[in-house]
Amino acid sequence: MIKNIYQPSEENMAQAAQYIREGKLVSFPTDTVYGLGANVYNSQAVANIFKAKERPLFDPLISHIAEIDFLPEYAETDNRALDLAKHFWPGPLTFVLKRKDDNPSIDLACAGLGSIAVRMPNHPVALELIKKSGVPIVAPSANRFKSISPTTAQHVQDSLGDRVDMILDGGSCRIGVETTIIDLTTPHIVMLRAGGMSKEELESYTGEKVYFGQENPNMPKAPGQLLKHYAPRKPMRINVKAEDVEEKEFYIGFGENDRGNLNLSPQGDVNEAAANLFAYMREAEKASGYEKIAMAPIPETGLGLAINDRIKRASYKE
Ligand code: TXA
Ligand code: MG
Repeated sequence: MIKNIYQPSEENMAQAAQYIREGKLVSFPTDTVYGLGANVYNSQAVANIFKAKERPLFDPLISHIAEIDFLPEYAETDNRALDLAKHFWPGPLTFVLKRKDDNPSIDLACAGLGSIAVRMPNHPVALELIKKSGVPIVAPSANRFKSISPTTAQHVQDSLGDRVDMILDGGSCRIGVETTIIDLTTPHIVMLRAGGMSKEELESYTGEKVYFGQENPNMPKAPGQLLKHYAPRKPMRINVKAEDVEEKEFYIGFGENDRGNLNLSPQGDVNEAAANLFAYMREAEKASGYEKIAMAPIPETGLGLAINDRIKRASYKE
């Protein structure tokens, strides 16, 4: 049995921070999903993230920081970015900004792009780890490429085993889907990935329309937003009503009249559904006697947008 899950005690946190500084890989909890972290300035460690995840090198990583003051040292920070950071950080929102300089040690983390993705997670363990390490930590979700994202320490171990040196256990992630990624290199805010921060909340704070990546043909979407992603190892259908479930199909319901093998939220609450999504997909993937997975329709409001994005990709047939 692999023993790499640790409670975030003072001693273990100090050890984890030292590991980060030394170039090892540490998985840590965030408000959204578990990350697989490395020192952004250590290209060998960053390369090991790609290797552990079996992730292609063209797909850039998000840097995690613990203080807003650090942002201008790292990225071109205008008033709009600073204002959004002050309002929404720490929280489930990632900014894509222009890189400050061409420090080659972060080239790999940025996949050679002129922009960089940055966020501040709202989780005490993540923030303490970044502060104690003294460097920004790059972290993709701590799962194998294209598979289901982890929302518990055990999910990370199931997915990556001993490819990760240490997993800090912070319980289940509160939000359960990845951050919303917004592009702040353009005059309008462009959403590159729907996630834990709703479009409605962004629009209500800024008083501006938030565009989708696809609406702007000149703007490439986040390179990591592949058609097939977050996928369980069983075929999955989406938008399936309870009465249309087929034989040997594991049904994940939503809402009070939608009893299935599991129900994402009997109250029909999209936040609760997001928090349960990946864990339930894993249960469905593991359930014996079932060959397929079917998912109930989910409303497109609030975090429903992020849920529908994930399950569309999870069910995509190559
Ligand atoms: O919630 C989250 O964001 C989690 C936690 C661990 O923080 N992280 C996460 O990372 O979801 P990852 O690597 O699974 O997804 C990062 C996404 C990818 O789709 C990538 O293409 C995009 O961010 N990205 C990173 N840098 C970018 C950039 N400069 N321009 C556009 N997209 C970028
Ligand atoms: Mg991911």
